Amino acid sequence: MNISVSRHASPPAPPTGDFGFGQKFTPHMFKMDWKDGTWHDARIVPYEPFTLDPAAKVFHYGQEIFEGMKAYRHGGDGSVHMFRPDRNINRFNISCERMCMPKVDNELFMQAMEMLIDLDRHWVPESPDALYIRPTMIATQRGLGVKASTEYCFFIIVGPVGSYFAGGINPLRLRVEEKHVRSAPGGTGYAKTGGNYSAALLPIAEAQKAGYDNIIWLDACKREYVEEMGAMNIMFVYQDRVQTAPAGDTILHGVTRESVGALLGDLGITWQEKSPAIAQVIADAHSGKLKEVFACGTAAVVTPVGVIHFKGEDHTIGDGREGPLTKQLRLALTGIHAKGSEKHPEWIHVVPPGACG
Ligand SMILES: Cc1ncc(COP(=O)(O)O)c(C=O)c1O
Repeated sequence: MNISVSRHASPPAPPTGDFGFGQKFTPHMFKMDWKDGTWHDARIVPYEPFTLDPAAKVFHYGQEIFEGMKAYRHGGDGSVHMFRPDRNINRFNISCERMCMPKVDNELFMQAMEMLIDLDRHWVPESPDALYIRPTMIATQRGLGVKASTEYCFFIIVGPVGSYFAGGINPLRLRVEEKHVRSAPGGTGYAKTGGNYSAALLPIAEAQKAGYDNIIWLDACKREYVEEMGAMNIMFVYQDRVQTAPAGDTILHGVTRESVGALLGDLGITWQEKSPAIAQVIADAHSGKLKEVFACGTAAVVTPVGVIHFKGEDHTIGDGREGPLTKQLRLALTGIHAKGSEKHPEWIHVVPPGACG
């Protein structure tokens, strides 16, 4: 499908300074509409608000999915590349299936991102800042009634974001969520759909009010096993292995999680995908068997966890500071983001200069 381009009449200059997260967007966006069983009108247009009917299904039944990935400026030659966008495209289409939405052709998806990034290439900040890419699909059909929409809008917005580490490496203080659950077997936990996040807002707000950075979700059935965090996966470092929850249907299959697993393989360290029991984690933190804990995800890459709060008590992990393996993995991944990888060249997708003509 041809992607048409309408350029902004007078695009604003890129911002400078601290970008924060999700506050600034480039002057253009990609849009495409689903109607009569097919995608129509793939186009890049000036960034603009939507007009939607108040009865559009997205407002009532939450039929919505999204993705999040980053493009980086190469620290050496200044070229622009995305990190493993093929994994995000695949995950987006898996979310489509679960949420009863039409899939997007992988090549068209990639071309849309390449063109959109290329058009405002000068907005891609110097590494370790990055350009965040947010593809989204919403149900736009007018009409109430719990039934999948027959109309959708797929759009992509992009904007510069600051490095999570700008303020230094601050180990996270996490609270185990003992009351609410994120997802149950057979639910939508593995799909990146807005409802999973809105259901998490209350427990995260409560934890933050109590002085913690985020929460650790437990399994819905027994409340015994660690699943993941609010918007990151979590890994537990032992002497002989690194343990994390398996990529079943209740957690988001993080691209960073998968990449960390591969990096551990490169280091000859066993990566064990087996649900960690929270009682064991706490006991191992006290006995010293548990050496380090870290969170991983696109936003925070690899971030140390210093404290886990469970059953009314704070439990310190190691000496509460970033451990050596966490640091090694963080530097390995941020290095790949900035300069690419000899070992995993397929992780880097260069945005071709002139992709947008
Ligand atoms: C619930 C949840 N888990 C894990 C992750 C980490 O996934 P990724 O590494 O693909 O960013 C995210 C990030 O979007 C998330 O929202």
